[in-house]
Amino acid sequence: MTTDWDAATYDRIADPQARWGEAVLDRLPLRGDERVLDAGCGSGRVTELLLARLPAGHAIALDGSPTMLEAARRRLASFGDRVTFIVADLLEPLPIDRPVDAVLSTATFHWIRDHDALFRHLAAVLRTGGWLVAQCGGAGNVASVLAAAAEVGGPWSSAAEGPWLFASAEETADRLARAGFVDVRTWLQSEPTPFEAGEPLETYLATIVLREHLARMPDSDRDAYVRGVAAKLPRPEIDYVRLNIVARRGRALDCGTPSGS
Ligand SMILES: C[S@@+](CC[C@H](N)C(=O)[O-])C[C@H]1O[C@@H](n2cnc3c(N)ncnc32)[C@H](O)[C@@H]1O
Repeated sequence: MTTDWDAATYDRIADPQARWGEAVLDRLPLRGDERVLDAGCGSGRVTELLLARLPAGHAIALDGSPTMLEAARRRLASFGDRVTFIVADLLEPLPIDRPVDAVLSTATFHWIRDHDALFRHLAAVLRTGGWLVAQCGGAGNVASVLAAAAEVGGPWSSAAEGPWLFASAEETADRLARAGFVDVRTWLQSEPTPFEAGEPLETYLATIVLREHLARMPDSDRDAYVRGVAAKLPRPEIDYVRLNIVARRGRALDCGTPSGS
């Protein structure tokens, strides 16, 4: 697991993740009565959108961060027993007692370096024929921020070194097939995202993109570091690249084909 999150700030500023999450959710075919795992639910903004599409169903909001899960509990309180909360590490076998109908995951997989283990654990809790629909950072993600961070100094000199994995579409498709997924589609999508310069950009960088960098330096150095990185960006924009995943567990059984590619 990576270091813990500032869940309150994340919940307030994660508009790009919520926007992308809604588009990812559009690819998940749902009748409305399924049990769906949100793997890495964070503060629950995308889980909330999922629950709105499950009027007779159930969501399992799973995250490794107790702080994030607490924020999700508050946000999703009105859904009552239509949502279950689980603190668990996606790198370990998951404490889910019977198979779910689908797995949704947004903005999470790149924080996990061992994707073979991750996909194995997800496959183990997904019913045969169930969809895995996900999006995370992919090859080239936030490259200009990481380059600026390396220039300013800090723990890592290249994107390959940090506690994240920005995988390619091809290697991800191979890993999914090895973990027992079929009908696999993976693709990269460029999402350059502009921010208001100054405090909004710096808070966003500190809370999300640079949080692992900051966790490895004294408190007193952090503000100057974030300002230094922001100042080195060519423009107040983060060069996001998203990796999309659509796959089924085992042999294709039912449901339609998800849209978008
Ligand atoms: C950027 S947040 C995304 C939250 C939400 N899905 C969204 O789109 O807003 C990434 C989440 O992944 C969780 N996470 C990272 N590594 C994890 C792991 N190994 N096991 C469980 N959760 C993990 C973090 O705790 C965090 O809540």
